[in-house]
Amino acid sequence: TAEIKRRFLAHFEANGHAVVPSAPLPAIDDPNLLFVNAGMVQFVPYFLGQRTPPFARAVSVQKCIRTPDIDEVGKTSRHGTFFQMNGNFSFGDYFKEGAIPLAWELVTTPVERGGFGLDPERIWVTVYLDDDEAAAIWRRTGVPEERIVRRGKKDNFWSMGIPGPAGPCSELYYDRGPQYGRAGGPAVDEDRYLEFWNLVFMQYDIADVRSKEEFRVVGELPARNIDTGMGLERMAAILQGVDNLYEIDEVRPILDRAAELTGRRYGVGSGRVAGESHPDDVRLRVVADHVRTALMLIGDGVTPSNEGRGYVLRRIMRRAIRAVRLLGWQDPVLPELLPVARDCMAPSYPELASEFDRISSYAYAEEEAFLSTLRAGTTILDAAIAQARAAGGGRLSGEKAFQLHDTYGFPIDLTLEIAAEHGLRVDEEGFRRLMADQRARARADARARKTGHADLSAY
Ligand code: ALA
Repeated sequence: TAEIKRRFLAHFEANGHAVVPSAPLPAIDDPNLLFVNAGMVQFVPYFLGQRTPPFARAVSVQKCIRTPDIDEVGKTSRHGTFFQMNGNFSFGDYFKEGAIPLAWELVTTPVERGGFGLDPERIWVTVYLDDDEAAAIWRRTGVPEERIVRRGKKDNFWSMGIPGPAGPCSELYYDRGPQYGRAGGPAVDEDRYLEFWNLVFMQYDIADVRSKEEFRVVGELPARNIDTGMGLERMAAILQGVDNLYEIDEVRPILDRAAELTGRRYGVGSGRVAGESHPDDVRLRVVADHVRTALMLIGDGVTPSNEGRGYVLRRIMRRAIRAVRLLGWQDPVLPELLPVARDCMAPSYPELASEFDRISSYAYAEEEAFLSTLRAGTTILDAAIAQARAAGGGRLSGEKAFQLHDTYGFPIDLTLEIAAEHGLRVDEEGFRRLMADQRARARADARARKTGHADLSAY
């Protein structure tokens, strides 16, 4: 993975790009974003023409956090909460005619000559519906018509999901072969055809963003720009010949250590196609992904709390700790796993090693606190179970499950599991109803305050 980063930077540096370091994960300059979620975030003022870029071309490997798909982690081959995005950028310099051949050259140049050596026959590309210009450039570059797919706004128009720069995009996919899914290209199967690079033709300013497909184009940006993002972990999975992000060299050692501690064998009985994984495999992947994410977040100054960024971190850590418990390990686990994550990542981010005392003291204290929550919740749950049994109903009420969740931070899946061990069912429907009511209240509240993602600590 380190070598992929190096080659990416070298290729674009040789083509006149300034090498720019990653911005820190907390997106402090943008009140609409909690975390940097793409390589372009630090360059937004350049795209919008608010600031003059000190270079016309740039290249970076950006640390990113994306959590909307957190429930997919471990189940698919390609969702990670922390990932790195390799990107090249043009600020009013080259446009499609430059970006497409530059990307193609890097991915198809043989490994011995500094490229990634992908077989050109296995690469598919997509373009936005009416983007004949991009399609023509791909044909000239060497991609045959039958592997150029046209897709709509949902897939091929990129924005940050908030007002700002946006544009049609063109994505590169790698065909991993029939063992991964159905033939027919990216529109048919995104597990078999793995998207690894997105080239965005940044040319519009958008507002009133309601969804990927509903927004208003305010106008053209002052210049036509390029913003690209190659999923570093995805490219690593392809080049290392592994099934998924969790098995690449920067992640797998964490997974292996978790398997060793819990006495589970990873990869037994799991299929390669999404949805077929053994639950233990999914848990091991969640642990590996989330422990690495926690390390990177605390490394960049985020600390666990009940709000905003700190809450995202807390939730990620709790999910990892829970997953480890479900795998059968009850003791503090971060002292076992965090140093492994540090050793995986420190070659690229040496500050993780020099700052490890600070990082680990936050992480270990958070785990201790959560383990006490679990202990307290378990006592209350045990009492509730004894009561339910004495009443002879065979069922724990939705109110009780909700109270455990809401007051004691006791996760519902744990309530379900422990109740089941005692031969009790839980009124899950009642629990979900109460959760939905609470969410509706929170939404109404948020609407009233109109703060969106605003950082309340500022007030
Ligand atoms: N900004 C684009 C993305 O995140 C490249 O996919």
